[in-house]
Amino acid sequence: MTKPILIIGAGNVGTALGKAWLACGHDVRFGVSDPDHPKHAGLPRERLQSARDRRDAEIVVLATPYAAAKPALEALGDLSGAIVIDCTNPLGMGPEGLHLTLGFETSGGEEIAKCAPGASVFKTLNQTGAENMAHAAAFQPRSMMFVAGDDEARKPDVMDLVADLGFEPIDAGPLRAARLLEPLAMLWIDLVTKRGHPRDIAFARLRRE
Ligand SMILES: NC(=O)c1ccc[n+]([C@@H]2O[C@H](COP(=O)([O-])OP(=O)(O)OC[C@H]3O[C@@H](n4cnc5c(N)ncnc54)[C@H](OP(=O)(O)O)[C@@H]3O)[C@@H](O)[C@H]2O)c1
Repeated sequence: MTKPILIIGAGNVGTALGKAWLACGHDVRFGVSDPDHPKHAGLPRERLQSARDRRDAEIVVLATPYAAAKPALEALGDLSGAIVIDCTNPLGMGPEGLHLTLGFETSGGEEIAKCAPGASVFKTLNQTGAENMAHAAAFQPRSMMFVAGDDEARKPDVMDLVADLGFEPIDAGPLRAARLLEPLAMLWIDLVTKRGHPRDIAFARLRRE
């Protein structure tokens, strides 16, 4: 698939995804505040652009902090017809460390969809660490990655992008299932930050013999 991809945010997640998709031959650009900032020196300059200009991108990947995702989407203007892949997790810092800020009656994915009318919003690539996204093909058996979204016709495009990274993509149902996938991310974060697990662990779907 060669649909142009615009990744908003070139931090841990944006860089990991962008480099991996570039290596697969995808047409990736990174939307950032300052394309000439030295912190982006590890990315090809011709792939860096303003985060406020969608140009011809058919797929927009949100890889900003959750609080920045809505303003970032609004800056892009009309996203009708686009695929939006939401990798964010609505996290806040409390006395016991990071926690989910939206609870379980809605989700970041659903809230983001309200800001992008006419776009097909998918929640995925939020459930494991950025390093695992960069090296997903190194897991044996394959690590799973759930994909939630309401547009069944376009879901295969997103599943294919997830598979290209090396994950086993699993359809988790409608976007509402982001209410399950954001807590799953929180579980991974808890395991690695509080329970002593290394950051290279990831979840897998197994079947008994
Ligand atoms: N880190 C992980 O392992 C991981 C795993 C799964 C999901 N996530 C989620 O993925 C998201 C990104 O995490 P991260 O670790 O990659 O964060 P990060 O390293 O802090 O990168 C976030 C990026 O977003 C950019 N940004 C902020 N506001 C922006 C705006 N309005 N427009 C354009 N770009 C903007 C920042 O650029 P400037 O600093 O130049 O503004 C920065 O490059 C978060 O929602 C996080 O919860 C993270």
